[in-house]
This record gives sequence, C-alpha cells and structure tokens, in this order.
Amino acid sequence: MIASFTESPPKQSARYGALASSPLCSNDMSSMSRSNLSQVVIFGASGDLTKRKLIPALTRLNADPRWANQFSILGVSRSEMTDEAFRAHLSEGLPEDLRAAFAQVAERIFYYAADTSKAEAMAGLSDRLDQLPGGVEAGRLFYLSLKPELFPVVAEGLSKAGLLRSAADEFRRVIVEKPFGHDLASARLLNRALHRTLHEDQIYRIDHYLGKETVQNLLGFRFHNAIFEPLWNRDHVESVQITVAETLAVENGRGGYYDGTGALRDMVQNHMLQILALIAMEPPSTLDADAVRGQKVQVLRALRHPIGDEEEPSNVRARYAASAAGLGYLDEEGVDANSETETYVALRAYVDNWRWSGVPFLLRHGKRMAERFTEVKIQFATPPLQLFNLPEGMEADEYRQKVEDGEICHTRPNVLTLKIQPEESIELSFGVKQPGNSMDMSPARLHFDYRNHFGETSTDAYERLLADALSGDQTLFLRADEIEAAWTYADAVRTDWSGPDSPEVLEYAGGSWGPDYAERLFATCHGGWSRG
Ligand code: BG6
Repeated sequence: MIASFTESPPKQSARYGALASSPLCSNDMSSMSRSNLSQVVIFGASGDLTKRKLIPALTRLNADPRWANQFSILGVSRSEMTDEAFRAHLSEGLPEDLRAAFAQVAERIFYYAADTSKAEAMAGLSDRLDQLPGGVEAGRLFYLSLKPELFPVVAEGLSKAGLLRSAADEFRRVIVEKPFGHDLASARLLNRALHRTLHEDQIYRIDHYLGKETVQNLLGFRFHNAIFEPLWNRDHVESVQITVAETLAVENGRGGYYDGTGALRDMVQNHMLQILALIAMEPPSTLDADAVRGQKVQVLRALRHPIGDEEEPSNVRARYAASAAGLGYLDEEGVDANSETETYVALRAYVDNWRWSGVPFLLRHGKRMAERFTEVKIQFATPPLQLFNLPEGMEADEYRQKVEDGEICHTRPNVLTLKIQPEESIELSFGVKQPGNSMDMSPARLHFDYRNHFGETSTDAYERLLADALSGDQTLFLRADEIEAAWTYADAVRTDWSGPDSPEVLEYAGGSWGPDYAERLFATCHGGWSRG
C-alpha cells in the first residue's frame, strides 16, 4: 500500500487474503470479485462531516478510473428525506471543480431515514442494502460519523440485523470517527464494546492526519533514505519539535463540543502523537498494517509520564484572550464562562527507549495562533568543537568556558524541517563558508517543495483513507492498543493538571504565538518555538 504511494484498485490482494480467518466475517479481498461492487453506508449522513469531507472524497474517488462505478453510497440519518432531497442537500456548497464528478456518482447515492437504535430500523436497512447495486454480494463499509456513545449501539444493531456477516466472504468493515473516547477508561470500554460484535480486522479507527501525504511521507522519508537513519537517535538528535498551529478557533458552533474536550484531547492525543510515533518508531520489517502499527505502539508506550515541576515546567496550557483577532475563548458561544479548558498546549515529552533516551520531544498545538502551520523540526547536535564564528577578539579557551557557563550559545546549524501543511516541503539547513578572506560560516539550506516537484496533487486525506478501507488496508488506521497507549499518556498529562500544584491555565492574545512562558520548555541555548 504505502510502498508505492498509490492506492490499490479494488482487486484481489494476496496480502489481504491473510485476514480471511476472522470467525465473525472475512475481509478477504478476493471476495470482491463476485460482484466487484461495494456499498458505503454513512451513519450521521445529515451531519457536517458527510457534506464537507466524505461526499467530496467519495466523489473524487469515483472520478479515479480505478474506482469508477465500484461503489454506491447510502446515507443514514433520522431526518426524513428522499434520495433526491439527500443528493440536493449534498450538492449545495460542493466545490465548483467537483460538480461534474458529483453528477457521475449522484445516481448511486441513496438515503435511508432511521433511528438506528431500533431493531426494526436495522432490519429495514438490511432490506434496503440488499436492493442497492451489488445487493447481498457487495462488500459493505459502514462509516460511523456519530457520537462515540452511539458506536457500540450501532455496531450491535448491525450485528443483530446480520449485517456484519456475509454468506460468501464479502467484506464487512466499520470505520469509526474520532473522538474515540475521552480518556483511557472510555476508550477501553469502547474497544470492548466494539469487539463484542466486530473482529479487530473489521474496525477502522480513523485519524485523518494519517491520510495526509506529508504525514505518510514521514515513514517514506525515514525508511527509504538510508542516509538519515544513522543520525536518527539520541547521539545525533538534540531535540524534536512538533507544531500544529491553527488560526481557527471554535467557529461553526463548535464551542460546546470543544469546551468538553480541549486542545490536548482534540489534537495532541491523536494527530500529534501519531506524528511523534512516525518520527520515533523503529523500522518495521514490512509495510504490513500490523508491522507498522506494532512499532508505533512501542513508541507510545515508551512515553514518559510528565512530572510537575514549578522550576522546570514540562507542560504549559493556555487559552486565547480577546484581541483584534476575535473574542476571547471564555466569551465564545457554547463555552462555560468559568471554563478551565485549554486551547493551547505545549509539552516536553520523552520517549524512554534506547534510541531516544534524554531527547526532548517538544509538542505544541494552539487554536487562534498567529499563523497556520504544521511541521516537524529535527534539531541535530552541535559540532563538538566550535571552530568558526567565535566572537571577535575572543580566544578559543575563553569561548569554551563561556559556552560551558551558559553565557554564550553554540550555533546550531543543522536542522531538518519537515513541513506538513499548508506548505509541503522538506528543508535541511547547514553552514557554508562565506566568500572572502575570513573563515566565517553562514546559514544555508537545501529545499524540496512537493508542489514544485510533483505539481498540484489532489489526494485528500479522506479520499485516501476511504480507498484504503475499501481495499482492506488498515495501515493508516489506529489499532485498539495504539489508541489506548495514546490515551494513557494524555491521561497522565491531565492528571498533572489536576493536582493541587497543577500548572494554571495561562492566557495568550488571540492571533499571537501563545504564552511566552512556554519558551521555558526549552533548556538554555536549545532554541525556542518555531514560527513556521
Ligand atoms: C480535528 C480537530 O481533528 O482536526 C479540529 O477536531 C482541528 O479541532 C482539525 O481543527 C485540524 O485538521 P486539519 O486537517 O485542518 O489540520
């Protein structure tokens, strides 16, 4: 799958054949050959995600000749609507460039109004699906774009209606949207509840960051280019900095949801820890889903739990205050006026294993910040002996003493920056001799830009992930143990926030770079937060 960075067409794949042993149902791709048709069933079909992300993604997928006319779509939701009304609802606000492609897929979009907690509604769903293209012989992908508490209810309903089994090994899979629980205990309960009716190889827990090209490239970049691997460890890496900065706040009525969630649970526990895991994982022996996920989970389990310390904070949380950029968080619609919810979090994490022991992983995420960017910065160690750019008139001995005393900082020329969005690039900085009679070094960089190199590419995260789920590839989806390991760490941070000496929620001006205090997560001379 990832090896070629292209999607497999929905044909038989030897690799997926290995999954066929599930007692509940088989995911063997060879089964698709009976009708070669799939049905994508979206629960929560009248919601925002369906219109904004899922339908555009499925429209693009259908425009790809390898997937054209291979699937039909059934939206399921409580509101009464005809198929035509549902299609009209989906087409409103669709980007102009997708209109023609939507017309191609629209005739295979259907709608079913139901309260899916009712058994008879599920029986009706089963009848409806049997009548859609492919009928009982179609592979079925159920997309649960619902509140997490409904995941097990719907899974149970599907199971009781016999919709998670197939007579002749056609696939039956379930995509589960985030948030997958709100802490370790709730995530475990959800996993247990889902496992009552589904085999793990039928469950696709989505993290849309894994569908982004540049996030997948973290794996490609690391394990295709042997030159970086010898440097990728505590001997040569001084720190790793991961930023997801957003200018957006809690627009579109998200205040209520966000206030019960916060930056740590909304972004760090899932997207940012996934990026960290891809950066820190050991090489997998193959690109098989379980080989990759097995390595990621080892990293997540090795995350050291934060220890509160006033002198040397290991995490900082804050919320945006009113500014020219907009309202303060506490004044946003749906937000409790006494809320303690953070819209910004900065963490110094450590991966306690042989490769990374002692290397700080600095993670920062904030809403309504100065700029939108996501990037990973690998700061390599300084040269052991500084030969160049000594302050004028200073002898080498004096210089070394001052560095040792923290009065002067070494220059740190070597940084690898992997820009994930909106700029998609890779940059390596290093020092070069300035032309002239002196031996002065100045900073330079090698720069690779995705768009310049490949031209505009269109694969969006949901398109990629839906294609993978239809193909039966779980590599870019989270496994149960992975999600639980990530929650274990997030819970530990939250515990640190709940003690009597817990760090308070600071404020930062909306549209700024966050609280200055967060710079204290860096040791003296070890740099500061990136500004993109
Ligand atoms: C979602 C969060 O998972 O990711 C949002 O719930 C956030 O709060 C979004 O804005 C960011 O995604 P992207 O792809 O725009 O970086």
